[in-house]
Amino acid sequence: MSPDNTSLSGQMQHVAQRIDTTLSHLFEAEKAKGAAPRLVDAMAYSTLNGGKRVRAFLVVATAAMLLENQDINPKANMPESNNQTGLWQVAAAYECLHAYSLIHDDLPAMDDAATRRGRPACHLAFDEATAILAGDALQSLAFQLLAAPSTHPDPQIRAALVINLAEAAGDAGMAGGQMFDLEAENRTLDHQETAIMQAMKTGALITSSVLAGGQYAGAEADIMIPLSDYGEAIGQAFQIADDLLDAEGDETIVGKPLGQDNWRGKSTLVAHLGLDGARLEAKNQVDRARQALAQISAKNPSWQADLDSMAQYIITRNA
Ligand code: IPE
Ligand code: IPE
Ligand code: MG
Ligand code: MG
Ligand code: MG
Repeated sequence: MSPDNTSLSGQMQHVAQRIDTTLSHLFEAEKAKGAAPRLVDAMAYSTLNGGKRVRAFLVVATAAMLLENQDINPKANMPESNNQTGLWQVAAAYECLHAYSLIHDDLPAMDDAATRRGRPACHLAFDEATAILAGDALQSLAFQLLAAPSTHPDPQIRAALVINLAEAAGDAGMAGGQMFDLEAENRTLDHQETAIMQAMKTGALITSSVLAGGQYAGAEADIMIPLSDYGEAIGQAFQIADDLLDAEGDETIVGKPLGQDNWRGKSTLVAHLGLDGARLEAKNQVDRARQALAQISAKNPSWQADLDSMAQYIITRNA
């Protein structure tokens, strides 16, 4: 599962550790505030159970690439040495929102999947009602984090972060894409409709995480546009890779039920293009992403190189 590139691999591990710490503290604080313990346990179960932390990485790496700070080591110790706790809160918000989408995606009413990240899905480890509520509460927690004054001193940036995530998660983003995905079990989408559905259900949150890094760093439009192009392209590549894993991955490594898309009649680009065609399309999207990224003049080129490697990792990963 770890990428070949050692720099990217180290940075991804660093992000994963820091996200675990941030979320653990957060759940303790929620319990101390009087949150329902069983609900927080289900939230913790579904967020502290591994995961590649791709969206968190995209938030942190994008901001780190753009932040002006000569003192920092752009490698592993950058965000905490620069005391960027707010940046980790933004990254954690994306992992909360993402985990909510996975909990609901696995419910019997949706994909009815028994495992996630190598363990029983939330609704089986707890129960369906608790899983629904854990998803709901993780979504709220994501927005609580983005809006918190400790996340960024500038209220305009906090508001922009909130709108960015709300649009990506909502009816024209992830939730809307999930609706189209489920409807498509009974009506096959054509190639273009499938690409739009995938851009919504998966691409929107991935693009949004890249843009959030840009917003946190105060990036202007000349940088936000190539960031958006990079995010959209890796978002498409990401879902194609997920669908390829569903068709030909190793279930013990991927950690979730595979072969689901075919028997559920899901519309995927693998179904439209075949395995080789889908692989080629994913590679084309990665090339597009790298070209967009290369247009950005980075303050910290080392993180730009890691974002470039991330685009490649997205289609070569085995989980
Ligand atoms: C799986 O996302 C769901 C999709 C959007 C395809 P990830 O593959 O990022 O899942 P984790 O977070 O690493 O478990
Ligand atoms: C789900 O797509 C995307 C989400 C928004 C959660 P899939 O249904 O293919 O994701 P997996 O394969 O269950 O992770
Ligand atoms: Mg699904
Ligand atoms: Mg699913
Ligand atoms: Mg899938």
